[in-house]
Amino acid sequence: MTDFQYLVIEPLNPTHDRAGFQCGVEALDRYLKKQAKQDIKRRISRVFVATMPDNPIVVMGYYTLRTLSIELNQLPEKLSRKLPKHPVPAALIGRLATCNTAQGQGVGKLLLADAIKRTLAVSDQIAIYAMVVDAINDNAKGFYEQFGFTRLSDHSPRLFLPLKSVSL
Ligand SMILES: CC(C)(COP(=O)(O)OP(=O)(O)OC[C@H]1O[C@@H](n2cnc3c(N)ncnc32)[C@H](O)[C@@H]1OP(=O)(O)O)[C@@H](O)C(=O)NCCC(=O)NCCS
Repeated sequence: MTDFQYLVIEPLNPTHDRAGFQCGVEALDRYLKKQAKQDIKRRISRVFVATMPDNPIVVMGYYTLRTLSIELNQLPEKLSRKLPKHPVPAALIGRLATCNTAQGQGVGKLLLADAIKRTLAVSDQIAIYAMVVDAINDNAKGFYEQFGFTRLSDHSPRLFLPLKSVSL
């Protein structure tokens, strides 16, 4: 097993091997190959990539981060009644994936922690109420739920975690 404690997580750059990335979900592989660069250029999303210090080209995992506004009626009533009557600001992890060869060894957890840390850092300057994630399937949902994420509204693939409840 590789020791991922020295994993480097940094913005996607042209040296990273986007084409070689495989995580088992084709849509997530394709996004990195075909769409990520354009989204960054257009300021639609930021993309962060995990590599090992001795091999900074091979992508071990990635996630995307952007802002989002949550409609109040999407939040559980016990939270929404304490909030002003307009949408609340959030940060969205739209995609998160670990490459096939590194799954089950803590990389996903490190990626998620990194996304939350970056969000907490900017939330001192621009208010952000919650972290939101798009769970692509039940597998992803299970992964996020164990970190305290809960479903936004009944039929949404989105889960959320208020930042005030985060301790890293
Ligand atoms: C889901 C995914 C991101 C998890 O990443 P990973 O690197 O394999 O996960 P980790 O090794 O960091 O696991 C961290 C913890 O989550 C748990 N976990 C991993 N996948 C899980 C799942 N599907 N359900 C419940 N728990 C899960 C692990 O057991 C581990 O728990 P522990 O800390 O108590 O040991 C990865 O399997 C993946 O990329 N899958 C394909 C793409 C995908 O489904 N992405 C989802 C987001 S769109």
